[in-house]
Amino acid sequence: KKLAVLFGGRSVEHEISVITALQLMNVIDVTQYEIIPVYIAQTGRWYVGDNLLFKSFYRRLPNSLKEAQEVALLPVAGSKGLTYLNSRRNDILPVDIYFLAFHGTFGEDGCIQGMLEMADATYTGCGVLPAALGMNKYQCKMMLKAAGIPVLPAALVDRRDAQKSLEAVREQILATPGLEQLPLFVKPCNLGSSIGIGVAKDERTLNACLVNTFRYDSHAIVEPCVKDILEVNVSVLEDDEITASVIEMPVSLSGVLTFEEKYLRDDGGKKTGGNESQGMASLSRIIDPQDLNPELKQAALDYAKKAFKVLGCAGVSRIDFIIDASCDQLYFNEINTLPGSLSFYLWVKSNPPLVYTELLNRIIRQAEK
Ligand code: DAL
Ligand code: MG
Repeated sequence: KKLAVLFGGRSVEHEISVITALQLMNVIDVTQYEIIPVYIAQTGRWYVGDNLLFKSFYRRLPNSLKEAQEVALLPVAGSKGLTYLNSRRNDILPVDIYFLAFHGTFGEDGCIQGMLEMADATYTGCGVLPAALGMNKYQCKMMLKAAGIPVLPAALVDRRDAQKSLEAVREQILATPGLEQLPLFVKPCNLGSSIGIGVAKDERTLNACLVNTFRYDSHAIVEPCVKDILEVNVSVLEDDEITASVIEMPVSLSGVLTFEEKYLRDDGGKKTGGNESQGMASLSRIIDPQDLNPELKQAALDYAKKAFKVLGCAGVSRIDFIIDASCDQLYFNEINTLPGSLSFYLWVKSNPPLVYTELLNRIIRQAEK
């Protein structure tokens, strides 16, 4: 079967998507699937070609784009394949399944999913609504809170209000129950990978954090800072049934996991041409933390599966929690409906272990159902 792997895209998480895609194209079962790499450049243009399989292509951007062919998916039911652009003939490159390997805006948020629905195409992972809900940190929290999953209090701030008066916005935040006290955590409502986040220690830095966050998103979400914080993540996969992976505990060096810590440690990630085992895998993490309270472990596994179900997710997701270690309270923090590296590093360590190729097979099989 012809499997188009779609990645890159107009998102600030573009580079991480390239890492995720190169990793998965490296292990996909080629006896079953013929890979068609489809790279969406930061300009939004789509490219195909065998050169897209190599890291060197991305190191030589944008010049290397000349070595690829431009295509487009016309979102017309029945068209399904990719149409070559700039070619004299109106050739169609047939595609059976679209494997989505994006992170963030336009790729993980329901946009491309909507386009594929219009074309009546088969694609992996979440449909439009769970993807959109998963990307919106505020709406997602509200929905899961209503389903009985514990979440931290939060305020949603619209950039347009801040343009009128940062002072009014600050008052609105500090008047929100649970947010009366600084420091506060400020982050973009619709982004991932720790981009645009900040910790407001006083009223002056609260303004600065908001202004910074609004460079990335039209909405900011403000939450209390948990002082004695631990983070635990769980991946969830829907195959015949919904299963949870082993737990990971990301370890931060600075208190808040920064983009640099997540992807650029050592020479990880694409920026410096890291190899497949770097990028996501370069983050310090404890897999299956042994000294974590067993009740908290069980709660994380149960709430992760419940969140996946309540949102109506498909494929593989990663659900991230915060633990207030001073009182052993667990809170849902966010869901990544297209997690970095598709969380394969958790599945290989799960019980029973799932090798990456088999994880991909299951994601694809589910898309075809
Ligand atoms: N959004 C990134 C890729 C993650 O959290 O996995
Ligand atoms: Mg994230």
